[in-house]
Amino acid sequence: MKLANQVAIVTGAGRNIGEAIAKTLAAEGAKVAVLDLDKGRGDKVAAEITKAGGEASAFVADVASEADIARVVAAVVDRWGRIDILINNAAISDNKSLLDITREQWDAVIAVTLTGPFLMSQQVARRMVAQGSGGKIVNIGSTSGFFGRSRAVAYAAAKGGVANLTRAMAVQLAPYKIRVNGVVPNKIGSPVGKDEFDPTRPVVNLVGRPGVPLDMARAVLFLVSEDSEFIDGNMLFVDGGVSAMMVGEKAR
Ligand SMILES: NC(=O)c1ccc[n+]([C@@H]2O[C@H](COP(=O)([O-])OP(=O)(O)OC[C@H]3O[C@@H](n4cnc5c(N)ncnc54)[C@H](O)[C@@H]3O)[C@@H](O)[C@H]2O)c1
Repeated sequence: MKLANQVAIVTGAGRNIGEAIAKTLAAEGAKVAVLDLDKGRGDKVAAEITKAGGEASAFVADVASEADIARVVAAVVDRWGRIDILINNAAISDNKSLLDITREQWDAVIAVTLTGPFLMSQQVARRMVAQGSGGKIVNIGSTSGFFGRSRAVAYAAAKGGVANLTRAMAVQLAPYKIRVNGVVPNKIGSPVGKDEFDPTRPVVNLVGRPGVPLDMARAVLFLVSEDSEFIDGNMLFVDGGVSAMMVGEKAR
């Protein structure tokens, strides 16, 4: 068990990528706080982890709310006494162009997708610093944070922010032995904000199959385990190699 006796919070853990991360960390011995805005989803994932022999509790919270985060951090510490791992996974997308998006839509996406990881990390890192025994934070980025896209503008800006928030946090938290890394998915399972796999979604990559949530969960497990102890401030592309391809290059 790579994470025995460690306590992890996974945001947006009620389905898809967050669910796979929560289950993978729990299978390695972590006690997992399944944080989600949707109570039904969180309860279901926590129950499935418990049924499989792991330890988990569901917490309903909005990652854009400081008050919600403070309540959950206190409740997790109350339940398990400490926090060792934070996975900032919750995000929403706008699916808009610059010419169409409203100010309200922009603000909503930035609040959840960029400010959420900032607020969660701030409150959890303060706790980790007070504990004095280090910690690990992994931010879920996106290839949309590195390249322009026709179908999302606020999400692309937020994910670009998440990438450099990761580096800034890594530098600022290194003195406290808190490592901060990120993973960069591209087209994993269903699109963000949806729960149905779309077989018509065009997937081009070097591996030759669509990514699945477990691909992300395995990379996150690596980044929170001692196997990655010399990796810090890194955004690990887990995208089937699509980011390595020059535009117009044939995949296979
Ligand atoms: N699915 C992809 O193809 C893909 C590609 C690149 C990056 N990503 C990133 O991976 C992560 C997970 O994506 P997904 O496709 O699994 O998302 P999803 O929409 O399927 O699930 C997100 C979960 O987060 C919860 N959530 C939404 N807003 C929240 C909030 N304010 N507070 C707390 N919980 C909230 C939802 O209830 C949901 O259960 C995101 O950071 C996303 O940007 C996904």
